[in-house]
Amino acid sequence: MKNKLIAPSLLSADFGNLQRDIEMLNRSQADWLHVDVMDGRFVPNISFGFPVMKAIQKHAEKFIDVHLMIVEPEKYVEEFIDEGADLVSVHYEACTHLHRTIHRIRDKGAKAGVVLNPATPVLMLEDIIADVDLVLLMSVNPGFGGQKFIENTYRKIAETKDLILSNNSTALIEVDGGVNTQNAARLFEAGADVLVAGNAVFASENPEKTIELLKL
Ligand code: DX5
Ligand code: ZN
Repeated sequence: MKNKLIAPSLLSADFGNLQRDIEMLNRSQADWLHVDVMDGRFVPNISFGFPVMKAIQKHAEKFIDVHLMIVEPEKYVEEFIDEGADLVSVHYEACTHLHRTIHRIRDKGAKAGVVLNPATPVLMLEDIIADVDLVLLMSVNPGFGGQKFIENTYRKIAETKDLILSNNSTALIEVDGGVNTQNAARLFEAGADVLVAGNAVFASENPEKTIELLKL
């Protein structure tokens, strides 16, 4: 997988016009579609589940990146892959048996990612980094779009990069939360490979243009 990828988050799309918004992303320079699943337990918000995932898969032409913000994700990872997920990321904080869950995702033929909340240190990944395809660093507390970027994420990107290199891992680094046209270039420079952007894309006047700007 190449880097400098943009993954617009459908959480900020207009759900009444989901097909229209996905078709806009199909035409755009977006690389991935980021799909945020929230259960009201792991995070204090509920987004959507399988019926909406089905609708997304029906229209999406891009790589589908599913971010599970749910407790006991191991119960559902296979179904998300059946519904079209190309990559499934689970939270470190939500998995008692993270190694098993990561391998269940990979055995089912999808890429597997691990997500860290802002307060979880990168060093917790030491014994799983060799098994994952992606590390997703939360740069806001998960649960809502449109929040303010947490600045210590730059340091966490550098630490994750070191961990990846020292383990000969090929994992990509994805950053999620508060990404916009002001901080995107610096995040790529710091070592991020994939940037998620919800509000910055969908609240802008010209979402397709904003996606282009995020890559500059
Ligand atoms: C937050 C979600 C994000 C969210 C990002 O819990 O994981 O993917 O949609 O939204 P923005 O880019 O608006 O911060
Ligand atoms: Zn997300």
